[in-house]
Amino acid sequence: MPDLKDIRDRIRDLNGKMAHGLDAAIDAAALESFRVEYLGRKGHLSQLFKLLGDVSPEEKGEAGRLLNELRDGITGAFEKRAAALSASSLRDRLLRESVDVTLPGVSRPVGHLHPLTRVQREIESIFLRMGFDVATGPEIETEYYNFEALNIPADHPARADWDTFYISDTTLLRPHTSPVQIHVMESTSPPVRIICPGRCYRRDAQDATHSPVFHQIELLWVEEGLSLANLKYVLELFTREYFGPGYTMRFSGDFFPFTEPSVQVHIKAPGATHWLEIMGAGMVDPAVLSGVGYDPEKVSGFAFGLGIERMAMLKYGIDDIRAFLTNDLRFVRQF
Ligand code: DAH
Repeated sequence: MPDLKDIRDRIRDLNGKMAHGLDAAIDAAALESFRVEYLGRKGHLSQLFKLLGDVSPEEKGEAGRLLNELRDGITGAFEKRAAALSASSLRDRLLRESVDVTLPGVSRPVGHLHPLTRVQREIESIFLRMGFDVATGPEIETEYYNFEALNIPADHPARADWDTFYISDTTLLRPHTSPVQIHVMESTSPPVRIICPGRCYRRDAQDATHSPVFHQIELLWVEEGLSLANLKYVLELFTREYFGPGYTMRFSGDFFPFTEPSVQVHIKAPGATHWLEIMGAGMVDPAVLSGVGYDPEKVSGFAFGLGIERMAMLKYGIDDIRAFLTNDLRFVRQF
């Protein structure tokens, strides 16, 4: 039968063990093991309380008081330890996650549009202001849209000028944006007033002025009563807007199967001595108009096709077309 002395001895033992146990509880998991071992339902403390039943009635009061004191002591020490641990882990976290706002930041470079995109948008905006709409067409074309509908029959030598990449016997990567004219005219009735920017492909060896992939902008205006004079006026407006005032313009005869007459357009910078070719153009051939169901006796039209790369090269003095597609940031950043 345990007496008061036994209880006191055990309390002293447990107090000693407890102090070590708490010191060893250096993290949340260890602290939880401590709680189970000392304060849990089957822990050291409740084992001691069980002895109380066997203590003699005279000593029971004092033994009970001592045990309560022990329980309060262990609980208090446990709580203090728990508070200290969570404070230090918070401090650790704050230290770990702190941000030094005085360090120089990571600066993300601001991108900008590629020079070709810029030139394309600039040209588009000039014609949008004149009342044209922007139309697009497929880059993989059928022979019909690329050639026949543009008045270039199968055996016509002009096909050689657009020698290109065939996907199958009857489909090919378009070598010009002119087939978009046909798509648009087939699906609308006059008046038609559009420009068509887009990528084109030709079986050209790459050099400073040729690239197998390049971009064109096509223009088409079909309405009653249009003449070469209207074409000239539109081009004069365009040249002034795009290149600036003071440029002179010259038409010379050319041949395209889809225009009659066909012209080559040259411009000359103020003070310059040589002419620069900027595009092919002409009055839409009556055969093309009747091919899409228009009446060439009633409506007439004009068209042109210009190279976007060439426009950019002329305006910015770029002398190698390959610079546009080599992804060299030193080049791209200049614009
Ligand atoms: N499609 C021609 C080419 O790629 C350019 C061209 C010339 C387009 C005259 C036209 C035009 O619309 O009328 O070389």
